[in-house]
Amino acid sequence: MTRQIIPVEPFDYVIFGGTGDLAQRKLLPALYQRDRDGQLPDASRLIGASRSDLSSEKYRAFAKEALEEHIKPDEREDDSLNRFLARLDYVKIDALSDDGWDALRSTLDKNDQGQIRAYYLAVGPGLFGTISNQLDKFGLIDDRSRLVIEKPLGRDLESAQELNKAIGKHFREDQIFRIDHYLGKETVQNLLALRFANALFEPLWNSSHIDHVQITVAETVGVEGRAGYYDKSGALRDMVQNHLLQLLCLVAMEPPASGEADAIRDEKLKVLRALKPITEDIVGATTVRAQYTAGAGPDGKVEGYLDELGEDSETATFVGLKAEIENWRWSGVPFYLRTGKRMAMRMSEIVIHFRPVPHSIFAKDAGIPISNKLVLRLQPDESVKQWIMIKDPGPGGMRLKHVPLDMSFAENFEERSPDAYERLLLDVIRGNQTLFMRSDEVEAAWRWIDGIFAGWDETSQKVRNYTAGTWGPSQSIAMIERDGRTWNDGDS
Ligand code: BG6
Repeated sequence: MTRQIIPVEPFDYVIFGGTGDLAQRKLLPALYQRDRDGQLPDASRLIGASRSDLSSEKYRAFAKEALEEHIKPDEREDDSLNRFLARLDYVKIDALSDDGWDALRSTLDKNDQGQIRAYYLAVGPGLFGTISNQLDKFGLIDDRSRLVIEKPLGRDLESAQELNKAIGKHFREDQIFRIDHYLGKETVQNLLALRFANALFEPLWNSSHIDHVQITVAETVGVEGRAGYYDKSGALRDMVQNHLLQLLCLVAMEPPASGEADAIRDEKLKVLRALKPITEDIVGATTVRAQYTAGAGPDGKVEGYLDELGEDSETATFVGLKAEIENWRWSGVPFYLRTGKRMAMRMSEIVIHFRPVPHSIFAKDAGIPISNKLVLRLQPDESVKQWIMIKDPGPGGMRLKHVPLDMSFAENFEERSPDAYERLLLDVIRGNQTLFMRSDEVEAAWRWIDGIFAGWDETSQKVRNYTAGTWGPSQSIAMIERDGRTWNDGDS
């Protein structure tokens, strides 16, 4: 069955930072794919804006190159490429001065048919407030305007509050779309479908039936030329504050009353607020931070973090932690989170470990029933697997076997799995904020993260080491094994 494509309303997307890395790797390819599928109405345009001195024609050539690099050849037909490139315009703008803003306004006014105007700030967060100011000053904000921003949304609670205030002066909350690209991933949305479109799981989704939850986001890449940004951020700010906590919220939230954005975001917020603070007295036992040393990457030997950086640093490229949610549903159920660069494989998954059967009726030589687990693999090879026990087929008595009920996306759906940005960029136009973070969510997440940093400072907790190409430091393994559990190292 082919997917039904419903075109969105006409829009103008202005991409500040239109010549940058994000625009090249993600934004232009995502909008191209949506156009190729026939989802962009004729009147929709894309306006690249940056300090580079380019004509619209040169910008089209730049975009063509980006598409050639980031879109597979069999997804690049001449007519769809030409149709997409014809939508592009370019304006040279200096965000820090008044130069170029009138030109942007006349470019937008040229074809104004009352369409939605989305401003995507693919620039450093230091410019979010400034650009919002300028947009306002030049009369470019009205009811149909939308602002799209992406992390880092602050580096602690205070700076996040300042940022929310700076953009909140010009845009209403329902006009602000804070991207967490993990929420655009198919399996993440599938978690909502799985939990709330099946009656099967919800009765079991609590501390009576779930033993613990693991969330792993492991990467094989290092800091990839982003050392300047990364060293000021580290794994806790770069990954846990946003992506991992968002995943935790979707697993742990109460069933919302509807699929409306605020119904879901209200429930996520309650989870963030119920996270047990990781204070000085427990930070040592419940968190591990570490840095990779020289070892192996997917293509051979790799340097350690400090050599890549070229100076000394205490920044963690790995964080493992044990979170607890203080409410009735989750009391006593640990959520183990870990993320790191240069780990053994690229693998992101959520694993729900159910409790064991209360009593086994099987003889010892049949095997001990292994607890059920539900594995949601986000990447690579998106899949949902429910592990169950069955009888090993054949004669010879009763032997138990642990097997997955396996729903692999690639095997079950012929369609290309869309990139997260394809969904998110058009949700902005649809005005659907379900997969975007509200200001209070971002702030609640920072409040909890700030507590961990404070705990590390107060206890002078050491930054451990792990060899590149492994599953992280031994202290992370010890942290979970102390509780009688083990990490699911991509083995299912
Ligand atoms: C980004 C982080 O938000 O997510 C990067 O800044 C990280 O450090 C990336 O590599 C991971 O995203 P994905 O989609 O490749 O898992």
